[in-house]
Amino acid sequence: MDMLIALHTLPALAAQPGVTLRKPIAPEHDLLTSWVARHFTPGWASEARAALANRPLTLFIATHGDPAALLGFCCYDATARGFVGPIGVLDSARRGGVGAALLLACLHDMRAAGYGYAVAGAVGAPDFFAKVANATPIPGSDPGIYRGMLR
Ligand SMILES: CC(C)(COP(=O)(O)OP(=O)(O)OC[C@H]1O[C@@H](n2cnc3c(N)ncnc32)[C@H](O)[C@@H]1OP(=O)(O)O)[C@@H](O)C(=O)NCCC(=O)NCCS
Repeated sequence: MDMLIALHTLPALAAQPGVTLRKPIAPEHDLLTSWVARHFTPGWASEARAALANRPLTLFIATHGDPAALLGFCCYDATARGFVGPIGVLDSARRGGVGAALLLACLHDMRAAGYGYAVAGAVGAPDFFAKVANATPIPGSDPGIYRGMLR
């Protein structure tokens, strides 16, 4: 199921103490996509790669420490224009606000890029999207653009 997110009513970005939110730079791209494949799925790594190929690139990471360690990522315009996701936060870093910060970073970037609405595709955590971004289910959206996809 896909979900619709209005970008004109977004909550403000809340800073997370000790967490840096930013777009990755080129020397980090391979590390990042390997991390996504290792912690999530090869399919999500492919989507991250697509977002990293956009200019300006359409992916945010959350890191902490120096040297930086990855806590999570979120991207948009990966599988389809106007789609946000995938989003993933390291198991050990969940339920601390990192996911909300990453999602809102992407959604504010989409708003700044000129989008009015975002679509969260094939949502695996609908309550998270509803809570953070007031996302609402799109009727008839399953399997949507993912019909017949290689798995
Ligand atoms: C979904 C995910 C990104 C959330 O990241 P997170 O860092 O734990 O999220 P946050 O701590 O910022 O949560 C924000 C709010 O959503 C709630 N929330 C988080 N995950 C939730 C879930 N799976 N179901 C319902 N509510 C959830 C939190 O309790 C919090 O609410 P609060 O503000 O009232 O405390 C993370 O659980 C994850 O990576 N899951 C595996 C990958 C996945 O399913 N991604 C989504 C695919 S569409």
